[in-house]
Amino acid sequence: MPYKLLFVCLGNICRSPSAENIMNHLIEQAGLSNSIVCDSAGTSSYHIGSPPDRRMSAAAAKKLGIKLRGQARQFRKSDFQDFDLILAMDRENYENILALDPTKSHQDKVRLMCDFCTQYNIKEVPDPYYGGPEGFAQVIDLLVDACEGLLKNIVSQQLKT
Ligand code: 4NP
Repeated sequence: MPYKLLFVCLGNICRSPSAENIMNHLIEQAGLSNSIVCDSAGTSSYHIGSPPDRRMSAAAAKKLGIKLRGQARQFRKSDFQDFDLILAMDRENYENILALDPTKSHQDKVRLMCDFCTQYNIKEVPDPYYGGPEGFAQVIDLLVDACEGLLKNIVSQQLKT
């Protein structure tokens, strides 16, 4: 069974689809596509069905040369069962996810994405939606750092045979 990751933000059109696509890029480069699978979701219903934000896609193309694939969906309670690790982009996302688990039986699966950063000393991936292009570029840089740390962590903690 592959190890399953779910990246979660508010709208599922900026930060979490970037995290999903960057992580997939790193997983492919590492030859681990059969071992780790990724998805993303939003805590809100605002953009259900929408593709990634074009400003976010432009930043990913410019910085990394990758296309962002995906269609927004809302986080659902069954995601607690369906995924091994749920990565929240900011504290508000984190709290909103945990609020859907009143018995607290899945709390250990939910983490803040920036906990896996090793280069940047920051706690949250800032919401770029109402800002300028530099905010989108910063999201990419932060997520590359966090995804690299996350991949190392999974390889050493979860995939050891
Ligand atoms: P995301 O960014 O949570 O990174 O996808 C946002 C997308 C949409 C909105 C806010 C943040 N919005 O308010 O519609």
